[in-house]
Amino acid sequence: MINYSCVLTGKEPMTLKRSWHKVTIMCGIVGYIGTGEAAPIILDGLSKLEYRGYDSAGIAIFDGEKINIKKAVGRLKVLENLTHGGETMPGYAGIGHTRWATHGAPSDVNSHPHFNKNGTIAVVHNGIIENYIPLRNKLLGKGYEFISETDTEVLAHLLDYYYKGNPLEAITKVLHRVEGSYALGIMFADFPEEIYAVRKDSPLIVGQSKEGCFIASDVPAILKYTRQVYYVDNQEVVKLRRDHMHFYSVDEEEIKKEPVTIDWDANAAEKEGYEHFMLKEIYEQPKTVTDTLSPRIKNGEIVIEELNMSDEELKAVKKVHIVACGSAYHTGVTAKYILEGLVRLPVEVDVASEFRYRNPVLEEDAMVIVISQSGETADSLAALREAKSRGFKVLGIVNVVGSSIAREADSVMYTWAGPEIAVATTKAYSAQLAALYLLAMKLGRVRGTIDDALFASLLSDLKKLPNQIELLLGQKQKIQRFANRYVGAKDIFFIGRGIDYAISMEGSLKLKETSYVHSESYPAGELKHGPISLIEDGTLVVAISTQPALFQKTISNMVEVKARGAFVMAITCEGNKAIEKAADYITYIPETNPYFANSLAIIPLQLFSYYVAVGKGCDVDKPRNLAKSVTVE
Ligand code: F6R
Repeated sequence: MINYSCVLTGKEPMTLKRSWHKVTIMCGIVGYIGTGEAAPIILDGLSKLEYRGYDSAGIAIFDGEKINIKKAVGRLKVLENLTHGGETMPGYAGIGHTRWATHGAPSDVNSHPHFNKNGTIAVVHNGIIENYIPLRNKLLGKGYEFISETDTEVLAHLLDYYYKGNPLEAITKVLHRVEGSYALGIMFADFPEEIYAVRKDSPLIVGQSKEGCFIASDVPAILKYTRQVYYVDNQEVVKLRRDHMHFYSVDEEEIKKEPVTIDWDANAAEKEGYEHFMLKEIYEQPKTVTDTLSPRIKNGEIVIEELNMSDEELKAVKKVHIVACGSAYHTGVTAKYILEGLVRLPVEVDVASEFRYRNPVLEEDAMVIVISQSGETADSLAALREAKSRGFKVLGIVNVVGSSIAREADSVMYTWAGPEIAVATTKAYSAQLAALYLLAMKLGRVRGTIDDALFASLLSDLKKLPNQIELLLGQKQKIQRFANRYVGAKDIFFIGRGIDYAISMEGSLKLKETSYVHSESYPAGELKHGPISLIEDGTLVVAISTQPALFQKTISNMVEVKARGAFVMAITCEGNKAIEKAADYITYIPETNPYFANSLAIIPLQLFSYYVAVGKGCDVDKPRNLAKSVTVE
């Protein structure tokens, strides 16, 4: 778990006025300067960032006389082989990069690092330089030649243009000229004892150990070497030397910063014997849910200190807006059913990319909640800024400490899932649900919609969830056998009503993103309004039915699809005997309050997706075209 006392909050980015038009890219950056050989350290760090998604990799190392660069399309393994694990690139300072192509196809020449014209300045970049075309034209006019199609090469030449012997001055001049989002690692051959880091709207941290100083896009890259990290703020420049770091503003004024202690388990970012991170993270869910719930249950009450809202303020809330993307959006849909059902609060849930452009009506006394694992999702961050710009306070439900959403939200409720490496979320999803249950119960308690008896029963069910998840994980082999039958499936449908519809959306997303099997989720009652025409002989329909009040309704829908040839897999509660005649295959979840059923029903669905993907030989942890942190709009 991460040290609460070190959480950074309340810092406004310096370029807020334009920054919601900005996008950043998933790529990964690692830099190192110290007493050890830089290349192996950088390659190792990059391997910890593979989850971010990339299609090429490169590294620049100062060898004592000059900067050498090696780059290669494809997996990091190709670069590792090319450099013999870094051995053929000796030197104590360097920067490395994994690139997810935007401007220009994945190719050696488009990979980073990029050089200036005489190879004395090297740059790696995450993000997009939006005004790169006018800058490129200007530089072409001054005789600069471009060899790649990237926006990043503009930075190398622009640094060259402004460099008059003072790296800091050149960097800050460039910062004044470029528009867009960036995290950069920079080295100057004239200053072999220094490397530089800078960022705006793209995550970047720096850290220090006895062996040297590090730059990284994310904590796992350097966790092995140091737990003392600094979150670089927007438009801050960091000069890293072997044994110290200096922070500067864009006006070249020195800044004092406090380090954050990363309190993760040392194995948190390792596979620990599991075949994939996804499976490991599925198995971590009992702990994740416990870690998210237990610090907020005190003496039989729910205490969410981080909310920074008095009971009076919670009572005054008239409406809740939840904004998120992907799986986080699905937890928001679950929360809508809970908040409306249990707390009687009206809720609107928006996909962040819609919220930001639909000019939503936000009434006075509305509470805005942004949910995000990474805390860096561009659309969610933009939605947060949109709500704040209209004067609304935003609660962030975030996993990554110190991330942009965590820092810009007015209050942050952390989901203590630890680092999630697999691209497809599992444990962070479960932690988000747990956080939302706590919030709903707190609101219901304060607003008088949950009486003592109901509260006691909800609390008791809440505490049982981690053990019940553990029990369901015990069904792994059974689910694996079932999943093996669907490795060749073309289409799979997921249906449910109410909260079960929210679960079916997540089940469907998990399957399609990990196994590339086409799947759809529908509210069960909506099937006959069109999609039922897609059901053919043998089509798998996964029917989720965890809400006793809707059992019979969902059974009717199951019977409808079965009559058209579907094979029906049901996920339902123990004791729902009536479902037996409508389903071909049943997975039971233990008894819980129907509002919490999502946390249990999702387990077999995650395992099902995982095993279909494994059966198909997919790259489970890094599905094609996806990245962990979607920092593009
Ligand atoms: C699906 C998945 C994505 C994310 C979405 C939001 O498995 O991981 O759909 O849920 O990209 O990401 P965060 O939560 O980081 O904002």
